[in-house]
Amino acid sequence: MLLSADMTVRRRVLCGIVLASLQVLLLRAAPGDAAKTAASKSPTFENDVLPIFKNRACLACHGPSLKTKELDLGTYQSSMRGSESGAVIVPGQPDESRLYHMVK
Ligand code: HEC
Repeated sequence: MLLSADMTVRRRVLCGIVLASLQVLLLRAAPGDAAKTAASKSPTFENDVLPIFKNRACLACHGPSLKTKELDLGTYQSSMRGSESGAVIVPGQPDESRLYHMVK
C-alpha cells in the first residue's frame, strides 16, 4: 500500500534522527553529571531530545494525552519513568535502553 510504504520511509528517517540525538544524550548526559559539568554545553533532554519527540509523531501516541503503554515522553521525568514495563531510557547505557532499541 502506498501509504504504508511512505510511512516506512518516514519512520526510517525519523529513527535516524532520534537515534543520533539519543546517542549523544545517553553517552554524554547522565542526569547526575549534568549539574557538575558545564550544563550549557551538554546536550539536555529539553533542548536536544524533547523537540524531536514533539516535532516527530512520538508525543501523539506517547504524550500527556494518550500515554500508549503508559509511556509519556512529554517531560524528562516522565520519559525516565518509562512505560508500563519499566524504564525505556538508561542514561549512559544505550544497550540497556529500550527506547534506543525501538528507534534503532
Ligand atoms: C502511532 C502511534 C505511535 C507513535 C507515533 C509512536 N509510538 Fe511508540 N508505541 C506505540 C505502540 C502502540 C507501542 C506498543 C507496541 C508493542 O508493544 O509492540 C509503542 C511502544 C513503544 C515503546 C516500548 C514501550 C514498552 O513498554 O513496550 C517505546 C520505547 C516507544 N514506543 C517509543 C516511541 C518513540 C521514541 C516514538 C517516536 C520516535 C514513538 N514511540 C512513536 C505507538 C506509537
